[in-house]
Amino acid sequence: MKSIYLTGFMGAGKTTIGEELGKALQLPVYDTDQLIESNEKMTIKEIFAQQGEEYFRKLERKALKELPVQDAIITTGGGVVLSGENVDWMKQNGCMVFLYAEMDKVWERLEKDQTRPLIMQKSRDEVAAIFEMRLPLYREAQLIVDTTNLSVVESVKSVVDVV
Ligand code: S3P
Repeated sequence: MKSIYLTGFMGAGKTTIGEELGKALQLPVYDTDQLIESNEKMTIKEIFAQQGEEYFRKLERKALKELPVQDAIITTGGGVVLSGENVDWMKQNGCMVFLYAEMDKVWERLEKDQTRPLIMQKSRDEVAAIFEMRLPLYREAQLIVDTTNLSVVESVKSVVDVV
């Protein structure tokens, strides 16, 4: 089967749901951020600090294309949809899934996070503006799951039932 690309905002639960989805479908799970970190031997935070976001986005486009388009679950960084090229790649080669979670839920998880460079020292309003700006990009997905009131198991089931 074609690979499943999990997209969504930071804190939407892509990693947790991805791991469980991998177990449910017995498929390996890959993550674009992890691949970038292992290729560069640097953390995402260090890449942003030393080389900037533009450079990170270039690595992200490259990483996406290095991952298998068949028989895999691929979890992506929240900004993967900023590139139309990435969106086209995911939709043409696999199934692009948008894991939506309400801003309140997302903020609960992100508020104290110190590892995500894009939101460090940002207010809730600033993060909410990024969230709103990206929503139409995520909505390009072939499958949208609103995980706001779902458990991990229920979220996984929502994907498994339709792929
Ligand atoms: C980013 C999300 C992060 C990571 C980087 C940029 C974004 O991944 O790729 O910090 O632009 O939304 P997660 O969505 O896994 O936190």
